[in-house]
Amino acid sequence: MRILLAGGAGYIGSHVALVLLEAGHEVLVVDDYSNSSRTAIGRVENLTERSVEVIDCDLADLTASRAALHGQQFDAVIHLAGLKAVGESVAKPAHYYRTNLTSTLNLLELMADHGVNKLVFSSSATVYAPAAEGVQNLDEDQPAGTGITNPYGWTKAMNEQIIRDIQHSRPELEAVLLRYFNPVGAHPSGRIGEDPSGIPNNLMPFVAQVAIGRRDRLAVFGDQYPTHDGTGVRDYIHVMDLAEGHLAALDHLRAGVATYNLGTGEGQSVFDVVQAFSDASGREIPYEIVAPRPGDVAKAVADPSKANRELNWRAKRTFAEACRDSWAWQSQNPNGYSAG
Ligand code: UFG
Repeated sequence: MRILLAGGAGYIGSHVALVLLEAGHEVLVVDDYSNSSRTAIGRVENLTERSVEVIDCDLADLTASRAALHGQQFDAVIHLAGLKAVGESVAKPAHYYRTNLTSTLNLLELMADHGVNKLVFSSSATVYAPAAEGVQNLDEDQPAGTGITNPYGWTKAMNEQIIRDIQHSRPELEAVLLRYFNPVGAHPSGRIGEDPSGIPNNLMPFVAQVAIGRRDRLAVFGDQYPTHDGTGVRDYIHVMDLAEGHLAALDHLRAGVATYNLGTGEGQSVFDVVQAFSDASGREIPYEIVAPRPGDVAKAVADPSKANRELNWRAKRTFAEACRDSWAWQSQNPNGYSAG
């Protein structure tokens, strides 16, 4: 298939592009480079020895997107475009709602224009109601879309609802909502990986930057949670496993909207992450305990059995491999893509 990959130059998008190309698909990336790099796509082309067509365009601008996609043909859309910083979304909610909701609405309209019915959407475990988290492994039937603590999370839940409602009005639409847990790691070559701008919000890139010496120490957000060592527990999924989940979803599209967790089913605490990354890098990771971060839950771990069963997909890589690959990326690209 020829796949329009919205947000294809970002961290997850570049790995999805690589996996799609390796599976023999053609990839048309649409990205505005607001938090991504053209270099990533160049590296994907080198790794796969395939070329990728790239359209530089902001999907929140319907007129510009229509013009940019005029005459383009594609069979399916994978939609990973959007803003994703939780803290920034609290400071700039209108910007988050406008960008993340408008780009989805516009993409759905562009799909209708082009007669395309296949959609894979990048959602998040953050849509699960906080009360459900921390209890057990989260399956897709857990309450979602209530009590979300930040606008970013709301945009994911609202986009899910928009897709469901539009599918209801266009029954031929085949959509899959993928609820990602915590993507980590990099391609094992270390050529593509996560390159957050500014101070990383997320644990793994922060730990990687401490290991390489870009930051002094990690601030551990609380050690009094009801978990095995008191620090927050998450389900860290290797980004290559996550990318392969998109391929599996494409192969299983059918009329309607299906929802799948993409996670490993296993939890790691902040201290577990520090230890594993230290082992993988051979570097010490200094840390200090600070107050819990507002809005954080004790534990969020997937029950991935529905995706295992129905998509015939499972996370295969270990957390140690994720740390190894993240370190390969970080040590080969200490300043991310900015060094070229
Ligand atoms: N943490 C620290 N120090 C840091 C950063 C994080 O101790 O500097 C801790 C957090 O308290 C948490 C764990 O590390 O216990 C993971 O935090 P992340 O910020 O890496 O990930 P979150 O689980 O908070 O958020 C991620 C994505 C969101 C998504 C959410 C869904 O970043 O986009 O998962 O659960 F919405």
